[in-house]
This record gives sequence, C-alpha cells and structure tokens, in this order.
Amino acid sequence: MRVFHRLGDLRQYRQGVARVAFVPTMGSLHEGHLALTRAARKYADTVIASVFVNRLQFGPGEDFERYPRTLQEDGEKLAKAGVDALFAPDEAELYPEPQTCFVEPPDLQHLLEGEFRPGHFRGVATVVLKLFNCVQPQTALFGKKDYQQWMLIRLMTQQLALPIEIVGMDTVRAPDGLALSSRNAYLSPAERAEAPRLYQTLRALKEAVSREGWARSAALQQEARQSLEHHGWKTDYLVVCRQSDLQAPSDAAQSLVIVAAARLGATRLIDNLEIE
Ligand code: PAF
Repeated sequence: MRVFHRLGDLRQYRQGVARVAFVPTMGSLHEGHLALTRAARKYADTVIASVFVNRLQFGPGEDFERYPRTLQEDGEKLAKAGVDALFAPDEAELYPEPQTCFVEPPDLQHLLEGEFRPGHFRGVATVVLKLFNCVQPQTALFGKKDYQQWMLIRLMTQQLALPIEIVGMDTVRAPDGLALSSRNAYLSPAERAEAPRLYQTLRALKEAVSREGWARSAALQQEARQSLEHHGWKTDYLVVCRQSDLQAPSDAAQSLVIVAAARLGATRLIDNLEIE
C-alpha cells in the first residue's frame, strides 16, 4: 500500500489511476471501516482511504485532543484489507492556512446531532469536500451509523453537482449488538457491558412502532428514553423520524428511522435503526 502525507504526492499518484473508490476516516480503525474498504473494491480498481482527525468538526470541550490516533496500526489494517493507497495528511498539510471557506450544509445540519454539536456538520462537510477534491474519487463510501452525516453528504454531493456516487453501508456491530465506533475505546469495562442496551432499546422501539403504528411513535419513543435513563444513560435524543428529512412522521406511507445519541458516563454513543 502506498502512503501519502503530502497532497502533491497523492495528486501525482492519482493521475496514474482511472477509477477510485474512497473511504474517508478519522482513523482508530475498526471492522466497520474495513468493511467499507472491502465494499469499495466493487466500485473501482483502486481503493484510497484517508486518515485525518478533523479539528473543524469538533466543538469546544469535545474530544479532539484525546481522540485516539493510531496511524501505524491503521496503516497495517488498511494494507491487510487490500487498500491501494492511504492519504494521511497532517493539519498543516490539509489546512496550511486557517480555513475561512466553509461548506454550509442545509438546515438539516441543525437538527438532532446538530443541536447538540453546533457547527459539527459544517466542519464535516468542509473536510469531506476538501478530501473529495484531493482524492477525486468516482465513488465514496460512508457508514450509516452516522446517519445524519450520510444524509448531509448525499445532499451536498447532489446540490453541488459533484460527480461522485455516495454509497451508504449498514452499521457493523459487535456480537452483542453494540455499533462499532472508535469512541467505544473510551468505555470502562462496566460501561462496555451496559452499552449494548442502546441498540436493544432501538430494537424494542422498532418492534413497538411496527406493532402499534407510527401515530403512537411519540409516546413510544418517550417510554424508550425513560427506560434507557432508568439504567443510568443521559439521552440527548431518541426519536422516530422520517428517513427522508429526519422530521416527525406524519403518515403511514413514510419510511422511518429511529436515531439516538446518549451518554454513558463521559462517553457519548450514537446509533440508529431503520423501519421500512
Ligand atoms: O465519519 C467520520 O469518520 C468523519 O466524520 C469523516 C467523514 C471522515 C470526516 O472527518
């Protein structure tokens, strides 16, 4: 696997390859990321991954400083997974001057995650567009665990007419159901044992909504939230909403998704579950 820390070197390499499928990451790679890189192979002969912890998408007091940085191991995992090239710029390379041009995503950015992490999606959209310009992929793959991020990147790509196909991949879970996340590393053993309850709660809520109907979803989501909080979680949000725009459902024909963010001790976990 080729490793590029400099944009100029990546660009030179890029000129020599035709189709590229791209997996952007912030490193601390787990099986969810590696599943994306394996799926990427179906879209192009050349698979490029990036590792960059993007300061712009972290708010004050968030975990930018302590976010796990494991570039050596990440490189080994990517090479083993058959990735052709890794782009791993440092901050001075990707942001050689203070970034004053931003991508301002649509209002969807202010809901749910955006309400609790103001400016987060502006930072994500800005770095993703910048990485797209560096890597120039024909296809880019994202995990649907970050459901709202996946929606906003699709919107950005569509509305800015980027010639890139965005592929969303299902969440990869541990055998006990916990969605894989780099932030799981923050959990103490006792918290790790408790953590699968988030997914269990989403599954129980999905069953209840499927059984009792969308019109009961507001009441059912309230009960689900209370049951999580009864076990010591602090819920930022746990809502049933439309897959199309993350607004409250308004009729039976709509495809729904349950999205949740909740804190266990100092660790904030997110998850979601689609209801077709
Ligand atoms: O999902 C992530 O890991 C990040 O938000 C991304 C898309 C790599 C942008 O920094």
